[in-house]
Amino acid sequence: MRYKVLVIHGPNLNMLGKREPAVYGIKTLSDIDQAMSEYARKLDIALTAFQSNHEGEILETIQAAGDSHQGMIINPAAYTHTSIAIRDAILTLDFPVIELHLSNIYKREAFRHHSMISDVVTGQIAGFGTHGYLLALDAMAGLIQDAESS
Ligand code: DQA
Repeated sequence: MRYKVLVIHGPNLNMLGKREPAVYGIKTLSDIDQAMSEYARKLDIALTAFQSNHEGEILETIQAAGDSHQGMIINPAAYTHTSIAIRDAILTLDFPVIELHLSNIYKREAFRHHSMISDVVTGQIAGFGTHGYLLALDAMAGLIQDAESS
């Protein structure tokens, strides 16, 4: 594979399938990781997928990503709305970062309308359910190619 992309799934996303299916759908996280890996292969991308319920582990994974990857797709889940630390970690990266949410956070409770990271990422995808992850991969392949040719 030509490119390496890190995918980070934040807290409670390990519960997908069981967790509020009316909001997040019935697919499990391993269904998502599998669909992403298959799609990524067609785009010449190798994925590293990581889920954690711990902010510190997410930070350490982001910090280690810079040397070995060309892009990151992150669904910080509830940390989206609270974590200045994840925002600061993203600011250390010099490659494209896509923020992703299964649900349309702007259609939900007011406390979900603000993202701590949306103004420091390349772009955001929200509200497309699990399809969003494949959209993110398409966008990421284009962004990495743009970066290579500039
Ligand atoms: C989420 C939206 C967040 O507000 C929420 O805390 C999540 C999941 C989403 O994918 O829609 O855990 O990031």
